[in-house]
This record gives sequence, structure tokens and C-alpha cells, in this order.
Amino acid sequence: MATKKKAKAKSRTAAKRPAKKVVKLKARKPAAKKSNGHAPPRPSSRPWGEAGKALEGVKILDFTHVQSGPTCTQLLAYMGADVIKVERPGVGDITRTQLRDVKGQDSLYFTMLNGSKRSITIDSKHPTGKAILDRLVKECDILVENFAPGALDRMGLTWEHIHKLNPRMIVASVKGFGPGPYEDCKVYENVAQCAGGSASTTGFRDGPPLVTGAQIGDSGTGLHLALGIVTALFQRTRTGRGQKVLCAMQDGVLNLARVKLRDQQRLAHGPLTEYSQYGEGVPFGEATPRAGNDSGGGQPGWIVKCKGWESDPNAYIYFITQAPVWAAICDLIGKPEWKTDADYATPPARLPRLRQIFDTIEEWTKTMTKFEVMEKCNAHDIPVGPILSMRELADEPSLRATGTVVEVDHPGRGKYLTVGNPIKLSDSPAVVRRSPLLGEHTEEILRDVLGYSAKEVAEIKASGAITAPEKPAKAAAA
Ligand code: COA
Repeated sequence: MATKKKAKAKSRTAAKRPAKKVVKLKARKPAAKKSNGHAPPRPSSRPWGEAGKALEGVKILDFTHVQSGPTCTQLLAYMGADVIKVERPGVGDITRTQLRDVKGQDSLYFTMLNGSKRSITIDSKHPTGKAILDRLVKECDILVENFAPGALDRMGLTWEHIHKLNPRMIVASVKGFGPGPYEDCKVYENVAQCAGGSASTTGFRDGPPLVTGAQIGDSGTGLHLALGIVTALFQRTRTGRGQKVLCAMQDGVLNLARVKLRDQQRLAHGPLTEYSQYGEGVPFGEATPRAGNDSGGGQPGWIVKCKGWESDPNAYIYFITQAPVWAAICDLIGKPEWKTDADYATPPARLPRLRQIFDTIEEWTKTMTKFEVMEKCNAHDIPVGPILSMRELADEPSLRATGTVVEVDHPGRGKYLTVGNPIKLSDSPAVVRRSPLLGEHTEEILRDVLGYSAKEVAEIKASGAITAPEKPAKAAAA
């Protein structure tokens, strides 16, 4: 009965309502796109990888030396930029002769950081050298340098001078410190690791601060600089003008160590429960402590021994006790009862027992090689990391196949391995060529890039601006 009433009432109101009008909406025209000054071209129809390199046409005046700057320009060269490395005649980048392994030949230190570049020798303090540099400034898109503070200005290449010659020029620099009390200091890798917060948080609690093998100060800052450069290049497509790009090594290291600054702030609200120091009952001090091999994230981890550890320094594996696979871990290591035991079943319950848990895991991993452990764990999605030696990485076929490890041939030293481009662009495969000999491309660049005639090149040569000063006869004979 009630339902009949409702149905009647519904049909009465429906009768009173005017019939619904179906309005047909016209397709709206897409709003006119605001131009950003560079309309993108139509998508290329060329096969992938054959539409030119990503940075093709970009010319870099490379004033870098040692590691940080060269890391940056090598990457840009791999991406297709024409990197013109300026070196002092007869001397070159100091690393050419540092840590030499083959007598009289460019060191691996140099060759592995300067691939795919061209080398021109110019004395930047010689008047003719200065004139050539001015021409290079006008011709190039980017100047990259990592001299000690003030050195570029002392060469006369101030920002004002460069910008006047070429308003489109991007001037990119690595310095040890940004503006502040230490801005004038010279800085090397380990200085940056220490000043950027990495060393104070690396190592074991009861030992001294440690530097890491990964060159986060030099190569890390070079990477930051490369990003700054391509970003400035992109902005230039709108503004038409260059800008200064500065990466301080201290800033770069701190950026990479940001999780430790996170922990510094967490300390104000209590102990860092994922640090094994918490489980061991050791009180925390005022600063983020060194955490040994504790994982920096929320999933506890540690390095444990594998079969052969007594004689092989790399027979170890990093083992992560990720919560979702805890049950699988318990089964694998022969502790199925830990799945339900209140002392082990949940992540918070495990935190005070991490030492004991990893000792138990280690009893299991010690019965197998690191690769066997990896196979067993990966079958259950348990994340583990075998400690791979440089030898193992050099021989790893998959790294050769992807171009991450590349063999190149050098006229002086023969074949050597280098690290190719770790950044893979699907439409711009990396171009990895051997490093240049000192001044190998001097004449080629003077002629083809700067347009000097053969007569002018001869005059430049005679001026002493691109060649090493003759050794006095006595010294040469000695
Ligand atoms: N022709 C003539 N002179 C040249 C030249 C050329 N082609 N190229 C470089 N030089 C000169 C410079 O003009 C400068 O001379 P000046 O001091 O009289 O002005 C000198 O060579 C280079 O100086 P500098 O950068 O101080 O070299 P260094 O070997 O004394 O110091 C560093 C090396 C790395 C400590 C320093 O360059 C630095 O702190 N750089 C910034 C931070 C950095 O990148 N560090 C990491 C390096 S991996």
C-alpha cells in the first residue's frame, strides 16, 4: 500500500515538471595555447635514435680540471654536446699525469673523465690566447669551470666580460663552498664529504667519521651542475639570455645526505628507533650519529657474511627485512615460529632485536655464496644486495650490453674500460669516445670552429699562445 502511494506521488510531481530539454553542447574550441617563445617542431618521423643527439649543436667551452667539472662535461659530451676542453699548453689537466699506470701515457684518472671531448691548448694568460678565448666565448653556448675561487676572473673572463661578448652564454661553476665564510677555500672530494655532512654520519658509532668510496663531492657535484646547465639551456630558449649556474660541493653533498638532516630533526622528538643503537640501548646524542650499515629508510637492513667471507673481502650481502616479506624470511632462515611470536611478528617488536635477528639471518647466509642467497631471496621478492667488487662489475656482461661499462681504444695506452652514460635516453644513445690527447684538436678547432685561416693558425703557433714554451737547451739536455 505504502509503495503504491509513493508511486502515485512520484507520477504527480513528474506530471507537473516541464519536459526535460536536451541541450546539445557544441564542441569547444581548445583554448589558444600561450606561446612560450619556442613552438615545438612536429614529432620527428626518423627512426628512434637517428634523430640526432639530445645536445647536438650545443658547444661547450670546457675549462674544467681534476674530477668535479670533467664529470659534468663528460656527461654532456655523452649526450651529444661538442665539448672543447681548454688546457694549458705542455701541461694540460693535472690528472693526465696523476696516478699514472702506463709510463708516459695519460692516466686512467684523466681518460675516464674526459671521454668524447676535444682538446685545445691555449695559454689563457697570453694576449693571443686571450683573443682566441674571446672568440670561443662568442662561439660557444656554455662555459664550464671549476677553478679555485677568483681564477677565472684573474684570466680576465669575468661574468661581465663574458656576458658582454655573448649574452647567451651560460657560465657554470663548481666551487667548494657557496657564499659565506669559506667561499675562498680550495676544496677536494674528501673536504666536501666532511663539510657536507656525509662523513659525520658514515662509519660505525664507536669509530671515527668515514669518507665513502663513491665520489659524491666531485662526481656528485658534477651531476648537479649538469642538471643546472641543461635547465639554464631550457630557460634560454625563452629568455634568449644566459645565466650563471653555481654548484657548491658542500651543498651537493648535503643534498645527497638529506636523509641525515631529516634524522637530525627527528631527534628532537625522540630516539631514532630504526638505528641499531636504539635496540642496543645506547642513548642518542645531539647530532645524527654514525649508523654503520643500518638502512637509511624505514626497512631495517644490515650487511651479513656469505660463504667464503674468511678469505674473500666481498663475500657479503646487504639484507633488508622488508615487512611485507617477513613471513618468507622466517621460513627461509628456518625460524617459522617468528611469524607468530609477539617478539618478532611486527616491525616495532623487532626493532629492539635487530642485532639478534641479523645474526640469525647471517647463520643462514653463511651457508651460501652471495649469488645463491640472492637467487633464493629474489624468488620471494626479498630485497638483497650482493657486495660486488670492481672486478665483478668490470666483467659483468649485462653492464657491457647496456653501455654502462664501455671499452675504448686509446692510441697511447691501448684498450681501457670506462663508465659510459648511466642515463639512458631512448632517442639519444650515448656517444662514448676515448679521451683526447693533449691539444689533439687545437688546429682543427682554430680552423673549423673559429674560422682562422691557415696563415693565421701559423701566426698563432708562432706567438707561443698554443704551444708549450721551448725548454732552455741546458734543461732539455739534462
Ligand atoms: N693557461 C694558463 N693558465 C691556466 C690555464 C691555461 N689554459 N688553465 C688554468 N690556468 C691557471 C689558472 O689561471 C690558475 O692560475 P692563478 O691561480 O694564477 O690565477 C691556475 O692555473 C689554476 O688554479 P687552481 O684552480 O687554483 O688549481 P689548483 O690545482 O691550485 O687547485 C682545486 C685545484 C681543485 C683545489 C681548485 O681548482 C678548486 O678549489 N676548485 C673548485 C672546487 C673543485 O672543483 N674541487 C674539486 C676538484 S675535483
